[in-house]
Amino acid sequence: MAHHIPLPLPLPLRRRLHHLFILALLAVASGNPSPGVYDRGAEEAEAYSILTFHDYTPPPPPALPPPPAAPAATCAGDLGGVGDLDTRCVVPVSVRLEGGGVFISGNGSLQLLDGVSVTCQRPGCVVSANLSGDIRFGHGARVVAGWVSLAATNITLGDDAVIDTTALAGNPPDKTSGVPTGIYGDGGGHGGRGASCYVNKGQTQEDSWGGDTYAWSELKTPNSYGSKGGSTSVEKDYGGGGGGVVWLFADEIVMNGTVIANGGNGGTKGGGGSGGSIYLKAATMQGGGKISACGGNGLSGGGGGRVSIDVFSRGEEFRMSRQCRSSWDTL
Ligand SMILES: *[C@@H]1O[C@H](CO)[C@@H](O)[C@H](O)[C@H]1NC(C)=O
Ligand SMILES: *[C@@H]1O[C@H](CO)[C@@H](O)[C@H](O)[C@H]1NC(C)=O
Ligand SMILES: *[C@@H]1O[C@H](CO)[C@@H](O)[C@H](O)[C@H]1NC(C)=O
Ligand SMILES: *[C@@H]1O[C@H](CO)[C@@H](O)[C@H](O)[C@H]1NC(C)=O
Repeated sequence: MAHHIPLPLPLPLRRRLHHLFILALLAVASGNPSPGVYDRGAEEAEAYSILTFHDYTPPPPPALPPPPAAPAATCAGDLGGVGDLDTRCVVPVSVRLEGGGVFISGNGSLQLLDGVSVTCQRPGCVVSANLSGDIRFGHGARVVAGWVSLAATNITLGDDAVIDTTALAGNPPDKTSGVPTGIYGDGGGHGGRGASCYVNKGQTQEDSWGGDTYAWSELKTPNSYGSKGGSTSVEKDYGGGGGGVVWLFADEIVMNGTVIANGGNGGTKGGGGSGGSIYLKAATMQGGGKISACGGNGLSGGGGGRVSIDVFSRGEEFRMSRQCRSSWDTL
C-alpha cells in the first residue's frame, strides 16, 4: 500500500459543540484512488449541495439496521478468552475465527490485551459485539474482518490499535453493485465512481468511468460494502476486493488507533476495489486516531467509500487525521 499522510484537522473549538455532525463524502475517483474529504462547519453546506444535485431526500433519523446474523459467541469457546461476557472477558492471545464470524453480547466488558488480534480474513466475515460494559483494545490490538460492528458503553482503541476491513467486503447491494463491467480492469465504485483507463470510441478519458456510485440513501448511516474492481481477464479475477463496514457506537469513544475500510489493490491487471463504510456514533470522542475508507490502487483506482461521524461533543483532546493516498492529500 502506498504512503499514508495523516493530516490534522483544525483544532477543536473551545466550547461544547452541539450535535456536531461530520459527513464525509468520499469523492469521485480519478486516475488515482479517490481521497476522503472531511467536511466541517461551512464546508458542510457544500457536502449537502452534492446531495441536492443528486435529487436526494433526507433519510429518517438514524435507525441502525441490524448487522448480519452470526452465531452467539462465548468468551472461552470462541475468543479463547478468560472470564465471561456478562462480567469481564479478557482475550490474552490472538485468535483466528472460523465460519461466518462471531456475535458477541452480554452485560460485561471485553478487552483485547496489547498486541492481540482477532482475525477473520474472509469476505463478509462478521465480528459484532453489543456489550453493556466497555470494549478495550490494548496497544497494537487488532480486529480484522469484513463487517465489524461494536456497541458498548465506552469503546477505547489504544495506541496503534487497528480495526481493519480492507478488501474484505461481502456482497454489494442488489440493484447497483458498483462493480464495473467489461474486462478493462476498471476501478470499483461506491462513494465515488471508479476510474477507467479504457476510453470508449467517441468518448474522452474524462468521460470514461469504472463502477458506479451507489448507496446514496444511507449517507448518514453508511452500511454498504465497497465493490470489487474489474479484471482484465475473464478467466482470472485480478480486481481488488471492496472495503468492508465498520460501525462503532458508544457513549464515549477513545480513538488512538486506526479504523480502515479501504478497497483492495488490483495490481497491474485489475482495478482497485472501492472503499467501504465507516459509521461512528458517540456522545463524546477523543484521541488522535486515523480513519480511512479509500479506494484501492490498481490499473484503475477504485472509488472512495463513505465515512459518517456523529458525535455530540468532541473532547478538547480530540483530533483526527485523514489518511488517503494520492497527491490530493497535499491540498
Ligand atoms: C443483563 O442485564 C439486564 C438488565 O439489567 C438483565 O435483565 C439481564 O438478565 C442481564 N443478563 C445477564 C445474562 O445477566
Ligand atoms: C444492543 O443491545 C441492546 C439490548 O439488547 C439493544 O437495545 C440495542 O439496540 C443494541 N445495539 C445495537 C447497536 O445493536
Ligand atoms: C466510561 O467512561 C466514562 C468516562 O471516562 C467513565 O466515567 C465510565 O465509568 C466508563 N464506563 C464504564 C462502563 O466503564
Ligand atoms: C490516547 O492518547 C492520549 C494522548 O496521547 C493519551 O493521553 C491517552 O492515555 C491514550 N489512551 C489510550 C487508551 O491509549
